Amino acid sequence: MNHLIAPSILAADFANLQRDLEMLDKSEADWIHVDIMDGMFVPNISFGFPVMSAARKYTSKPFDVHLMIVEPDRYLKAFKDAGADRITVHYEACPHLHRTVQAIKELGCKAGVALNPHTPVTLLQDIIADLDLVLIMSVNPGFGGQKFIENTYKKLNDIKELSLQKNPNLMIEVDGGVDQHNITKLVDAGANVFVAGSAVFSSANPPATISNLKYPEKLLQS
Ligand code: DX5
Ligand code: ZN
Repeated sequence: MNHLIAPSILAADFANLQRDLEMLDKSEADWIHVDIMDGMFVPNISFGFPVMSAARKYTSKPFDVHLMIVEPDRYLKAFKDAGADRITVHYEACPHLHRTVQAIKELGCKAGVALNPHTPVTLLQDIIADLDLVLIMSVNPGFGGQKFIENTYKKLNDIKELSLQKNPNLMIEVDGGVDQHNITKLVDAGANVFVAGSAVFSSANPPATISNLKYPEKLLQS
């Protein structure tokens, strides 16, 4: 399977969100990454349910919702109702992670767990079999456009090894500082879903950038 590209609408032009969503809908993007920040778990506030529900009208692509919020259990159903297909919560925000993962699945969504850059992959060994996805943060969550943290490659190797032992179907997503220069190395390290915010929306031609991220081998040849 080729890897998947999930552009983050955090980097979209919010005053032209319909235009940007329609662009993503026509592009080779696989999922739409939706970054929810509460100003508590992370030092920034992004957007909430009304924006998500409005966005849902302009694309049929899956919404990959990344919850950077405290107490996510309180809002899982509301995110499902606002159009989430996949919900990823942070390990660091969930004292009862097993319960939270089951609640996401009971809503009919795919369940993911995100790890901050300092959180070791080994902490997932007793939950990994229950997960659809692990999201490895390659920047500290809270803002787009940050510098990629190099230790991510080692963490991807670790999670890939754990998934081969305990959950071979696990999807492994990388989020933060992904671009056309590091994506091939990240694929080689074990990731198969790539979030890209500024790399897509700051480029002159976002659909072409998405295509280049999806098929980097074509770029190397050209
Ligand atoms: C950061 C978010 C990311 C962000 C990525 O907290 O989780 O999804 O949008 O942005 P870039 O690709 O610009 O690093
Ligand atoms: Zn994200």
